[in-house]
Amino acid sequence: MPDIPLLDGQDGARIPAIGLGTYDLRGAAGTAAVATAIDAGYRLLDSAFNYDNEGAVARAARDSGRDDVIFTTKLPGRYHRHDLARFAIEESLLRSGLDRLGLVLIHWPNPKEGLYAEAWRALVEARADGLVEMIGVSNFLPEHLDRIIDETGVTPVLNQIEVHPSWPQDDLRRANAERGVLTEGWSPAGEKAGDPEHETIVRIARAHDVEPRRLLLAWAVQLGVIPLPRSRDAQRQAQNLDVVGIELTEDELGEIAAIADGDFVGADPAEHQEF
Ligand SMILES: NC(=O)c1ccc[n+]([C@@H]2O[C@H](COP(=O)([O-])OP(=O)(O)OC[C@H]3O[C@@H](n4cnc5c(N)ncnc54)[C@H](OP(=O)(O)O)[C@@H]3O)[C@@H](O)[C@H]2O)c1
Repeated sequence: MPDIPLLDGQDGARIPAIGLGTYDLRGAAGTAAVATAIDAGYRLLDSAFNYDNEGAVARAARDSGRDDVIFTTKLPGRYHRHDLARFAIEESLLRSGLDRLGLVLIHWPNPKEGLYAEAWRALVEARADGLVEMIGVSNFLPEHLDRIIDETGVTPVLNQIEVHPSWPQDDLRRANAERGVLTEGWSPAGEKAGDPEHETIVRIARAHDVEPRRLLLAWAVQLGVIPLPRSRDAQRQAQNLDVVGIELTEDELGEIAAIADGDFVGADPAEHQEF
């Protein structure tokens, strides 16, 4: 089983350098897939209220009997109002069957609604009340980070954002780091952006004798990004975790940096409305 390093975050948080994406892992099959991932060594699980799988994912965490598995969920945009955010967190707790949620993120800032600071206050309070161990955000831009930090004095443990070679988000990763916020990377296999098929990625992967997707994950880990690869297949889950020893050279990092073409697959957090 690979030894996954822990990254140090706010308030003594220690977050595994790789986690499991769970979008679309649902029902009994989803629980079974998450169970094989935990057996392979995953200790960070990424769920969301809106994935409709908090029960399935947390069930695998509970059944593992381990106390070092971090269950993540995300607060949807329709529940940013302070009282609604509290109900949603309590509902996530009930759906998960856990005594306490490991990590709760605000899924998207929805800046047009402008209620994300209210939602953040509800997360801060839920943590103080013992419902949640760690709190963070997702798809936040620097101005959103600054507003919640300024209004509450509480800095998110991490910001989960889209990261892959086509859209490496150098500026936003730097902004996170400057504020002491870890970066998690979603869609790290870059499937939709076509990164695993990119000629540069294929060539460098071949030089390291690994599959292109594993190279993408090793690249993220080397940048200090916590990638969240999703796979329902036990063998691919194990392969995706076994990337920590793959060291890219400065030249290779430079070649991969040259791939960046601004081709993101998600949405612009300044505009996007997620409910
Ligand atoms: N915060 C947000 O707004 C946000 C947005 C999007 C995603 N996310 C999170 O990020 C996670 C990952 O992103 P994603 O779900 O878009 O997908 P991803 O991890 O980039 O790619 C998943 C796809 O890659 C395949 N795959 C994985 N490892 C492979 C390997 N070693 N070889 C070949 N194929 C492989 C999987 O197929 P198999 O299952 O068949 O292996 C699946 O089809 C999500 O599950 C979710 O938890 C968050």
